[in-house]
Amino acid sequence: MSNGNSEERPIDVLIMAAGLGTRMRSGLAKVLHRLDGRPLINHVCSTAAVLGPEKIYVVIGHQGEDVKTAILSEMDADAVEFALQKEQLGTGDAVNSARGFLENRESTVVVLSGDVPLIRHETLSEMIGQHHKSGAACTVLTVKLDDPAGYGRVIRSEDGNFDRIVEQKDASDAERAVNEINSGIYCFDTKKLFAALAGVKNNNAQGEYYLTDVPAILRGAGDTVGLFVHDKKSEIEGINDRIQLAEMERLLRENTIERLMRESGVTFIDPQNTYISERAKFGRDTVVYPNVTIEGDSEIGSGSVIRSGSRITNSRIGDGVEILDNCVIIDSEVGNTCKVGPMAHLRGKAVMTEGSKVGNFVELKKTVLGKGSKASHLTYLGDATIGEKTNIGAGTITCNYDGKNKHQTEIGNNVRIGSDTMLVAPVKVGDGASTGAGSVVTKDIEPGDLVIGVPAKKMK
Ligand code: UD1
Ligand code: MG
Repeated sequence: MSNGNSEERPIDVLIMAAGLGTRMRSGLAKVLHRLDGRPLINHVCSTAAVLGPEKIYVVIGHQGEDVKTAILSEMDADAVEFALQKEQLGTGDAVNSARGFLENRESTVVVLSGDVPLIRHETLSEMIGQHHKSGAACTVLTVKLDDPAGYGRVIRSEDGNFDRIVEQKDASDAERAVNEINSGIYCFDTKKLFAALAGVKNNNAQGEYYLTDVPAILRGAGDTVGLFVHDKKSEIEGINDRIQLAEMERLLRENTIERLMRESGVTFIDPQNTYISERAKFGRDTVVYPNVTIEGDSEIGSGSVIRSGSRITNSRIGDGVEILDNCVIIDSEVGNTCKVGPMAHLRGKAVMTEGSKVGNFVELKKTVLGKGSKASHLTYLGDATIGEKTNIGAGTITCNYDGKNKHQTEIGNNVRIGSDTMLVAPVKVGDGASTGAGSVVTKDIEPGDLVIGVPAKKMK
């Protein structure tokens, strides 16, 4: 993908993610807090990857191993390099931790913060384009905010050019009144960045080495510092506390739902009370009732209905499906025209084939339910395969666990399992066979046979 790079300088990306995030009041490092179900750092890494960098350098510190694991759960190990910041001495020191990897590179380095998750790659590409065109040593992404409190302010000189960045805690009243803020996102000429970093001191209100001092150092050395003024406040918003995190979650959700209504033709009965992952995909004319949660990479087909209180995680739902109230569907598949619930639970790669039905208080785990088959009430089907047009009576259980191992149940086509049947696995039930109510099946049943009793015996 083009990075808008007129000189074709290679792009490196450096993400600062070593801080604890004191204002989160948490035992968990800030960048591991989740937005839309994913750690904050993963949002930034996947945006960075779109820029086509040679590598993404991530500065880790607090819970560094966990941050690494989170990133590597979504990215190839050779796409990312980790630099350890031993002590969190400030953002300047954070960048300095990657000196060994970067200082001699003829590249443009894009510096991102692990706590600014909604920045778009299109915006970054535009900024990189301006940076290269202008020949600046540094370009700072800024935005004007009605309430700039907490951010570093961008102070311009009288001619309107960049003068310096002043952190909130170091700012005078006049400086605090400035509403153009530093987003914490920058492009630098890599070599010049590291040369200037050597001159950063920590004589400020927080006793930290501020990366924000680098642009003024570069300007002082006669280099140009550019400002890329962006108008989308939401993209550059940093997360420093849980209030901002909740607010961003709400914002992301609102955007997702509006996009789905506008572009995918989905009806939301109560958009404010519906929780849909940014990554979810929908077909048109599906109706989603209040208090539905759809997480992860789920896909929902067209003309389906999802009633209140249901949660769908990393699952595929077909067309014309009816999911009644309070169902939980995780890592599973529901084929076209299936009916689910109320209060059904599908998990562990459960598959409902086209036209099948799972009713009240039915749990399906690692089970394939064949075309047109039904388990309508109070049933547990685990580690089972069930053929087509089979009926599983109320209260049926696959006894799949012997205390040590799990065992398979195989049920054929056109089978009638009577109410309250216990199928003690491993066991097979042939096509067209039946069991009487209350049977405890301990042996395979031949096709067409009827068994009854405890243990179940062949009647015909
Ligand atoms: C920083 C900027 C501020 C800007 C704001 C935008 C500085 C000094 N200030 O402030 O001008 O308006 O971002 O969101 O840079 N980190 C490390 N190691 C450290 C310190 C921080 O890796 O020693 C990481 C944090 O994990 C975080 C990022 O750097 O991901 C930013 O740090 P944070 O403490 O949130 O800086 P802000 O106070 O928000
Ligand atoms: Mg911050």
